[in-house]
Amino acid sequence: MRSLLVIGSLNADLYVEIPRLPIPGETLAGTGNAVRSGGKGANQAAAAARLGRLTWLAGRVGTDAFAAPILTDLAEACVDTALVKPMPGATGQALILLQSDGDNAIILSPGANHTWGLADGFAMDTAVAAAIPASGLLLLQREIPGEVNLAAARIARSSGVPVILDAGGEATPIPPELLIGLHTFSPNESELARLTGLPVDTLDQVEAAARTFHRRGVHHVLVKLGARGCLSVPREGTVLAQPAFPVPVVDTTGAGDCFTAAYAVALLEGQDPARRLRFACAAAALCVQTKGALPAMPKRAQVEAFLEAQP
Ligand code: RIB
Repeated sequence: MRSLLVIGSLNADLYVEIPRLPIPGETLAGTGNAVRSGGKGANQAAAAARLGRLTWLAGRVGTDAFAAPILTDLAEACVDTALVKPMPGATGQALILLQSDGDNAIILSPGANHTWGLADGFAMDTAVAAAIPASGLLLLQREIPGEVNLAAARIARSSGVPVILDAGGEATPIPPELLIGLHTFSPNESELARLTGLPVDTLDQVEAAARTFHRRGVHHVLVKLGARGCLSVPREGTVLAQPAFPVPVVDTTGAGDCFTAAYAVALLEGQDPARRLRFACAAAALCVQTKGALPAMPKRAQVEAFLEAQP
């Protein structure tokens, strides 16, 4: 079985539930709190493993009390964490303000996720560098230093391993070299608007904005559109739209990670393009119905049952 390698962040998600966002200077009473496992890398690895793919995660945790529960949750999801290194200091933390409509606002403190490469000029660890050519697909996001993603993508490119880059994480422009030769680039609608400066109100506008990345070397742009579903825009071939499945939304945190990981799994399985989108939207529809990011990633059987129950 071709394995999936995820290189990315691990975070302790510090949840506070609130009725609405506070205004500057206001003290607002929360209605609940919890610490849950998250981080875009960890979420995507857990989602892929729960969907049945042999999955490795390469990342960094700290030496504080937040690290162990994340590693336990990843092990329970059957993610191989041999490439997750403990670094002196704090694990990444995300303060998640969860509103009652399921929407969130996040403040990120990267901690160990930003210790990659500090001592070695961003040279890739030998073990991670060796794992890239041995994998069937490399999945990246933007919560670790961009230089690490670039180094990983270079190794993947020279060994013929396809790369999916999820645009989630840092809000800065993407280094042009990182986009060259990407199998799939997956922004959500606000990331697409921010990165291109173009409107994304209609599907035609989304397609036009997505196509600007073809000109920058990306083969396929997969846009996550939240309640509108998703739009797949290949450089050549048919543009496909998949509407979202209407479900009650409890917490949208991690739904984009779930979607991208499910798409990666479906791609590795050789599912046809339309089924990949349906599979990914179904996984995300299940994810938003549970609180938490990593804990909300659905199992394969749940996704299959959900799809079978659709008209
Ligand atoms: O994509 C969701 C993730 O973003 C959360 O788990 C949080 O850790 C932030 O990094």
